[in-house]
Amino acid sequence: MLLIGSEAQPFAKTGGLADVLGALPPALQRLGWDATVVLPRYHGVSAGTLSRTFPVSVGGYTRTAGFYEAPLADHARAVLVECPDLYHRDGFYGADGVDYPDNPRRFAFLVRAALEYAAKRGTAPDVIHAHDWQAGLAPVYLKTVYAAHPVLGGTPSVFTIHNLAYQGLFESDWLPRVDLGWDQFAVDRLEFYGHISFLKGGLTDAQLITTVSRRYAEEIQTPAFGFGFDGVLRARAGALVGILNGIDTQEWDPARDPFLPAPFGAEDLSGKRAAKIAVLKRYGITADETSLTRPLVGMVSRMVAQKGFDLIEAALDRLTALDATFLVLGTGEPRYQEMWRALAVRYPDRIGARIGFDESLAHLIEGGADMFLMPSRFEPCGLNQMYSMRYGTVPVVHGVGGLADTVTDVSSGNAAANGFVFTDYTPEALLGTLARAFSTFGNAPSWHALQAAGMQQDFSWDRSAQEYVKIYRRAIGLRAEGKGHTDGS
Ligand code: ADP
Ligand code: GLC
Repeated sequence: MLLIGSEAQPFAKTGGLADVLGALPPALQRLGWDATVVLPRYHGVSAGTLSRTFPVSVGGYTRTAGFYEAPLADHARAVLVECPDLYHRDGFYGADGVDYPDNPRRFAFLVRAALEYAAKRGTAPDVIHAHDWQAGLAPVYLKTVYAAHPVLGGTPSVFTIHNLAYQGLFESDWLPRVDLGWDQFAVDRLEFYGHISFLKGGLTDAQLITTVSRRYAEEIQTPAFGFGFDGVLRARAGALVGILNGIDTQEWDPARDPFLPAPFGAEDLSGKRAAKIAVLKRYGITADETSLTRPLVGMVSRMVAQKGFDLIEAALDRLTALDATFLVLGTGEPRYQEMWRALAVRYPDRIGARIGFDESLAHLIEGGADMFLMPSRFEPCGLNQMYSMRYGTVPVVHGVGGLADTVTDVSSGNAAANGFVFTDYTPEALLGTLARAFSTFGNAPSWHALQAAGMQQDFSWDRSAQEYVKIYRRAIGLRAEGKGHTDGS
């Protein structure tokens, strides 16, 4: 099994993709699949032992790549591709909000390096599993450059969409510079409204496509959520499957989380109060009777429109009038960073904002908050709502994608209710749902029942990894039948 992507924990992370690529390989290994994930060795990453070096070429651009192997849990492993000219930069994808202009080369190189590395092992991986647009050319190369390769020829591929909003769109003149012919500039190939899309390459050429929740698999086949790809996805509906992400239950465990002041579990939540005190203090808010009785709403998020910050902005006056504490951690668009900074200055005893990426604070917020807010406009899966539930922190979410698949509203009357869900993407719906949450928070027995429901849930990777294995077997079967491609019909 060879997985290819642009981020993986614990080496490089900006979002949930890294959590998935750090945890899925060990989960596959536990099921008996030898799993290796390949990602770039970015600036500042020192992990891994150099196992080999050899030249890798993309469109006439040749550099000697270093392949650093690093163990993951359960004997899975990562291979980090070193190429300073391409990867030793300030950011993974760009700097100061602008993408690097050579991103097509940077990620085509990653894919070529991964495939060459696999080829040099002498036996093809059972399946090549490519993630997001950065790895979108892997299925394409397997159908073109490597179609008749003595080792890799015929290797089936699976492509996973973590977020359809990121499409790897580039000028068409990149085609020859990434070893592809002009025949790829066609509507049933990589062409997308006058550009080429690496994402579309993955969608078109992988034997099977997965995305990270069932609901999102349905949503992306509609114009409202399809970002222009809904037609392509409908055409491949039979090959598209939603598999909910798991979470790393070792890393996210309130009973042994080194970032919490005291461990806690469903039977004894006293450690959660200690975390609430600690997180209030971290934000410089006095932990007195008033602040400890108020509901504490946490957010840890990339600050981009996807995550619902426009909705928060529209609800701001009424939101800040609520008797609640808001503690926010994130980075992203300057206007949302500024919005939260200004709010924290204006309401120092009730609003806290940290702009930055801080793993330990993310854990402390999950531990100390009473509620976790995810008003995402769309959310392929979302991991924080699952982390929250494990920490007895009740999610308040917009019912889309993975949020809809994991959070069940109290008012549903369902015994498995574990949070609060709003369906309309409006300030009124957001505020009304927060008001419902605050009212339930005031009723201790009802609140504890909600916390307990969330804490009992099983979001471990083992269940999801079994679903991936079924997909891999299906992809291998399609290859065995000699079908290079299926529309699933
Ligand atoms: P997405 O991948 O769209 O950003 P997810 O919910 O799948 O959303 O995953 C986000 C991951 O990134 C979570 O593990 C979350 O805790 C983490 N994260 C996001 N922003 C920060 C931050 N500023 N500091 C620490 N962790 C963060
Ligand atoms: C993307 C999505 C997020 C998902 C993550 C991991 O970044 O935005 O919803 O949880 O990928 O699959």
